[in-house]
Amino acid sequence: MRIRKAVIPAAGLGTRFLPVTKAVPKELLPIVDVPTIQLVIEEAVAAGIEEIVLVTGRGKGAIEDHFDHAFELERTLADRGKTEMVEELRRLARLVRLVSVRQKEPLGLGHAVLCARAAIGNEPFAVLLGDDLYDAVRPAIGQLADVTRETGLGAIAVIEVAPGQEHRYGVIAGESLPGGRVRVRQMVEKPAPGTAPSRLAVVGRYVLPPEIWPILAATRPGKGGEIQLTDALAELARTHGLIATTIDGERHDAGDQLGWLRANLAWALKRPELRDGVRALCDEMSARAGSSD
Ligand code: UTP
Repeated sequence: MRIRKAVIPAAGLGTRFLPVTKAVPKELLPIVDVPTIQLVIEEAVAAGIEEIVLVTGRGKGAIEDHFDHAFELERTLADRGKTEMVEELRRLARLVRLVSVRQKEPLGLGHAVLCARAAIGNEPFAVLLGDDLYDAVRPAIGQLADVTRETGLGAIAVIEVAPGQEHRYGVIAGESLPGGRVRVRQMVEKPAPGTAPSRLAVVGRYVLPPEIWPILAATRPGKGGEIQLTDALAELARTHGLIATTIDGERHDAGDQLGWLRANLAWALKRPELRDGVRALCDEMSARAGSSD
């Protein structure tokens, strides 16, 4: 079955990026000059997603504006002969059908996804987190959709994290299957140091069956007092089955400062007009750091 709809939860407070996130949604922080959420939506569109359900909260209106027409801006740019940029802005406004739902309080990622229930309905759907970026030839979410098509089960993306880093993630364990896949038997949100069942950490791409809805609705607050998506996924794994898989491509965690800076460098290096300048800048900065050691 085709995956037509995707949920993008964007109602979190973005506290790790304060003070900028006081007035600017975290999802609009730029990777060079493109908002992170635009890269995520372009990934979804490239995988054939037709409708995005954006879960927003207070102060997030600028995200919707970004994907809307901006007639005055377009006219001013057209008057100045900037036709390429006008075309780019129009492409953006036509990129995808965007529906917004509101999460009135940031009660957790599981709760944010549940807010999209009526807009998604009774079909399998994708979930993409705006602070996880994938640089991949085949869109990451499309790779998960392929797993769901082949197995008939929900699929989640995992990465192997460095030893000692497990406590920052939801961690899975289970039976290894061919092709680097795992049938999930166990899931723990942010395990205490030394207690993780493996080094396979859940990252922000999921394809879920509609059976997740009643499970999410019944999920009580867990770690940190938040309604955790991980807890609902653990129940889905028990009752219906769930596959975890690594993704072909490079993942960037744009949700913390270093990861966001790294993503900026990686995307800048992909731009022919910036590549040489960025390389020179990196050389200059590391020479300067070396001389001040
Ligand atoms: P994060 O924990 O990374 O985002 O949640 P956050 O809470 O905004 O950031 P910090 O930790 O305070 O810096 C992952 C995604 O889930 C969304 C966030 O917007 C983010 O994209 N989210 C989280 C919600 O939509 N609602 C919530 O209640 C929690």
